[in-house]
Amino acid sequence: MMLRFAIFSFLALAFAFVACKKKNIEPTTPVKEPVLQISDLFELQVPEGFDQPKIPAENPLNEKKVALGKKLFYDPVLSKNSSLSCASCHRPELAFTDGLSMSNGANNQPLSRNSPTLVNVVYNTAFMHDGGPKTLENQIMLPFDNELEFNLSLPEAADKLAKIDGYRKAFQETYGTAPTAKGIIDAISSFERTLLSGNSKYDQYTFQGQQGALNASELRGNTLFFSKELSCSECHSGFNFTNYSLQNNGTFELGSDSGRYKVTRFINDIGLFKVPTLRNLSVTKPYMHDGRFSTLMEVILHYESGGHPYPTRSNLVRGFSLTDGQKKDLEAFLLSLTDEEFLQNPDHRP
Ligand code: HEC
Ligand code: HEC
Repeated sequence: MMLRFAIFSFLALAFAFVACKKKNIEPTTPVKEPVLQISDLFELQVPEGFDQPKIPAENPLNEKKVALGKKLFYDPVLSKNSSLSCASCHRPELAFTDGLSMSNGANNQPLSRNSPTLVNVVYNTAFMHDGGPKTLENQIMLPFDNELEFNLSLPEAADKLAKIDGYRKAFQETYGTAPTAKGIIDAISSFERTLLSGNSKYDQYTFQGQQGALNASELRGNTLFFSKELSCSECHSGFNFTNYSLQNNGTFELGSDSGRYKVTRFINDIGLFKVPTLRNLSVTKPYMHDGRFSTLMEVILHYESGGHPYPTRSNLVRGFSLTDGQKKDLEAFLLSLTDEEFLQNPDHRP
C-alpha cells in the first residue's frame, strides 16, 4: 500500500514537473482577469488601539471593489421597485443606522428589528441581532431575498445592473466580467469592511495620549463603566466595546422576540441577542434589538433594575444602585464614544 502510494506520489510529482516545464516554454494565453496594480490595493487605516482586522483571503480588499461596493450600497437599483438602498436603513450620518425603532421596509412595511450600526463590522464574528450569518458575504443575501426589503434575488439584481452602462463598465474593470451575484456580494462586503470608527474622545484619551480629551464627568463615568459592580465591560469589552457573544441582558420577556432561539431552537438561547458595540451611541438611538429605549438614561435605568428576570438572563445583569449624578456621569461616558470625524467622513458617502 505504502509502496503504491509512493509510486503514485512520484508519478504525480514527475507529471507536475513536466507540466511546469512545458508551461515555461510555451507562451501562455493572456489572462482575462483585470491585472491588479499595486496601487489598487486598499490599505485600511486601522485606528490606534485597534487590532489588525482579518480580511478573508477569498475576498481581498482593493480600491476598485470598495468603490463599486460604495456605489451599490447607496443605489436603490438593487431593490425590485427601485425604492430602497442599503443606505435607506443604514445612513452614514447615523453611524449607518436609521433612527427608527424598527426599520421601514419596501412599501413602508416595518421590519421586526432595529437597524444595527455597521461601524467596525469587519471585526464581527456573527451578524444580525441573533448572530445567524457568520460572514458579511452571507449576511448580504438576506435583504435581497426578503420581500419586505429588496424583494429581488441577487442574480436578478445582477441582470438589472447588466443593463446599465456604468455598472457593466465598473464590473468589467473590477472583475473582468459582466455584473454577477458574487461580484455584488464581494464589492459591498469590501465597502463595509472599510467603515472603521475609532477616533472618539474616549479613543483620544485612551489610545492617543490626549489627557484632556475626557472631562471630569466622563472620567467618573469611565470608572463606573469598567467597575466590577456594574460589569458593563464584561460584555461590552475591548476596543470595540463588545465580546461578540450573545446574551440575555434582561430585554426578554415571554411573548417577545426570542432572538438566538429562532436560529438554534435551544431553550438556553431564548432571549439572547448579540452584544452590540457601543460606539457612536449619540446617533444610534433608539436602542436594543427592537429599539425599545429612546434615550441612554432609559438604558441605564434598565440595567439598574436588572431588566426582566428569566432563566437565561445573564447573572452579570443583576441590578445596582447609582445616584442621579453617577447616572449622568455614566451617560456622559457613553456619549464620549461618538466619533465625529467618522460621522462626517466623506469617503463613506457617494
Ligand atoms: C429595510 C431596511 C434595511 C435594508 C434595506 C438593509 N438593511 Fe441591513 N439590516 C436591517 C436590519 C433591521 C438589520 C437587523 C436584522 C436582524 O437582526 O434580524 C440589519 C442588519 C444588517 C447587518 C448586520 C450587522 C451586524 O452587526 O450584525 C449588516 C452587515 C447589514 N444589515 C448590511 C446591509 C446591506 C449591505 C444592505 C444592502 C445590501 C442592507 N443591510 C439593507 C435593515 C436593513
Ligand atoms: C451580560 C452582558 C451585558 C452586560 C453586563 C451589559 N450589556 Fe449592554 N447589551 C448587552 C446586549 C446583549 C445588548 C443588546 C440587547 C438587545 O438587542 O436587546 C446590549 C445593549 C446595550 C446598549 C444598546 C446599544 C444599541 O445600539 O442598541 C447599551 C447602550 C448598553 N448595552 C450599555 C450597557 C451598560 C452601560 C452596561 C452596564 C451598566 C451594560 N450594557 C451591561 C449585553 C450586556
